[in-house]
Amino acid sequence: MTAPSPNWWKASTCYQIWPASYKDSNGDGIGDIPGIISTLPYLKDLGVETIWLSPMYDSPQKDMGYDISNYEDVYPPYGTLDDMDNLIKSCHDLGMKLILDLVINHTSDQHAWFLESRKDKTNRYADWFVWKDPRIVDGKRLEPNNWRSIFGGSAWEYCEERDQYYLHLFVKEQPDLNWELEEVRRGIYKSAIEFWLDKGIDGFRVDTCNLYSKDITYPNAVVRLHGEEHQPAFDHFTNGPRMHEWLKEQREQVLDKYGDVLMVGELPGTDAAEVLQYVSAEARELSCVFDFDVVMLGTATHAGGKKHHTVRHTLPQFKEAIRKVQDLIRGTDAWTTVFLENHDQGRSLSRFATDKPEWREQAAKMLAVLMCTLTGTLFLYQGQEIGMYNHPESWGVEELRDIDSLNAYNDVAKRHNNDPLWCKKAMKGLQLVGRDNARLPVQWDDSKNAGFTTGKPWIRVHDDYEAVNVAAQIKDPNSVLNFYKKMIKLRKEHADLMVFGQDFSVWDFHDQDVFTFTKSHPERHGEKLLVFLSFSDEEQPLHYPTGLDKVKKELLLSNLNEGEEVGKYLSPWEARVYLIKESVLNGY
Ligand code: GLC
Ligand code: CA
Repeated sequence: MTAPSPNWWKASTCYQIWPASYKDSNGDGIGDIPGIISTLPYLKDLGVETIWLSPMYDSPQKDMGYDISNYEDVYPPYGTLDDMDNLIKSCHDLGMKLILDLVINHTSDQHAWFLESRKDKTNRYADWFVWKDPRIVDGKRLEPNNWRSIFGGSAWEYCEERDQYYLHLFVKEQPDLNWELEEVRRGIYKSAIEFWLDKGIDGFRVDTCNLYSKDITYPNAVVRLHGEEHQPAFDHFTNGPRMHEWLKEQREQVLDKYGDVLMVGELPGTDAAEVLQYVSAEARELSCVFDFDVVMLGTATHAGGKKHHTVRHTLPQFKEAIRKVQDLIRGTDAWTTVFLENHDQGRSLSRFATDKPEWREQAAKMLAVLMCTLTGTLFLYQGQEIGMYNHPESWGVEELRDIDSLNAYNDVAKRHNNDPLWCKKAMKGLQLVGRDNARLPVQWDDSKNAGFTTGKPWIRVHDDYEAVNVAAQIKDPNSVLNFYKKMIKLRKEHADLMVFGQDFSVWDFHDQDVFTFTKSHPERHGEKLLVFLSFSDEEQPLHYPTGLDKVKKELLLSNLNEGEEVGKYLSPWEARVYLIKESVLNGY
């Protein structure tokens, strides 16, 4: 038997495009597909090999396209099906792959399946969504149970035509599909998956892919938020009993017809042992997943994911979260991913490093070193490559567009009668982790609206675009952008250790200022990758792993400006990558 060929997606450098804020080609203030196509050479030059495009499907945009009304069509402001064919072809012509977002836990309430389903209890689509009778208590009509929607409020919405409630784990315009029915699964596979694989795309990022299978007894959730009507019910709808059965069915009956399709799943709230069941190669479910331990740092998940409760995390917690994700491959046949940003998170520079003007660039390059030296499929998010950071604290609620953030803010305002200090507190949390931070227009140049649009942008452009933009950074050899380019190239040259490295070991777990780790590869005997990262505004001493200060080592790269030499200490936010040639530390 010949050895199986390695999966193409393991070493691929991926880049997420969130279409509304990426590049507008026709001046209507909204990014679009022709805009994306016009930037492909830029992405190619950066070293990007796979593009993940967030939902561009037809949608009423209650949740920025994650509420799909037709899987087989494009949201008109983004373009047409012809534009999509063009995008697929343009990517492939440049030797790049394209994956789309697969949002099949729910549809929009404007999807034809739901419009039909809600009419009565006997139509063809009557059971395609999760319908339940009301509870009648003291003659009063109540929701079937106390579940809280992930975006706040009840997870149930009443429908008069049927005198029933339907389930929506997200906003009420996102009804959950009833995966229990085989006919529903077939419908989803055909319309959402096969339609696009037939057009030649290379895979999917799978939205909330551990929520399809619910506890079908729909019990009340235990009370965690005291005094609240609706309770977080994650235990009853996350990693449910039939998840693995359905993902296997999807792989065997649908995806296998198309070859090595990348399925990268979004998998919040799942412990390591459970993650393995989804991504072990033998399980044949998902290729890899986005594990949320890193990006959830600092958000109060125990409060039901309320975005205004933030707690500053510590560097040791950050290291521990990264260790968990890196260790997924330790002694297993699984694969992992590397990411610090996406469209649901605050910018990594502001959350995990610093956006202080004096250290910003150095810190962005340090995070680039971290990402590009970790094992797994690498995902960058638009704007990360130029060091975009969160909007300033001075922005008011009127600038926000995200339904999740607005719900969180309005909830606080309502509870506290618009008390200004409470409102300020809510905004402070959102300024750090609110989703709009990642949704501000990409800063292409220093012309009006950062070159994102010639019209009126649908969301405010970051104030600092004159200092942080693509055009200026292309010209500056010391820019964050040119550093990313260099770092991505280095990652490819040293793929054994950087992309596929094993034995991830942290040497200074309790250090609050520096993160030091090593990696090795079974076929590179004696060699090790040694990485130092400073998370501090001050100079820091180097903590060499036992014995490694004495051995022969080659500095592969540092994030200092060209011409500057590394010294005895780490300068603020410095990063260094060494290749240890002959480690005497066999066994470490
Ligand atoms: C995922 C998406 C997010 C969306 C939600 C509901 O978490 O990333 O943007 O709001 O699913 O589809
Ligand atoms: Ca447009």
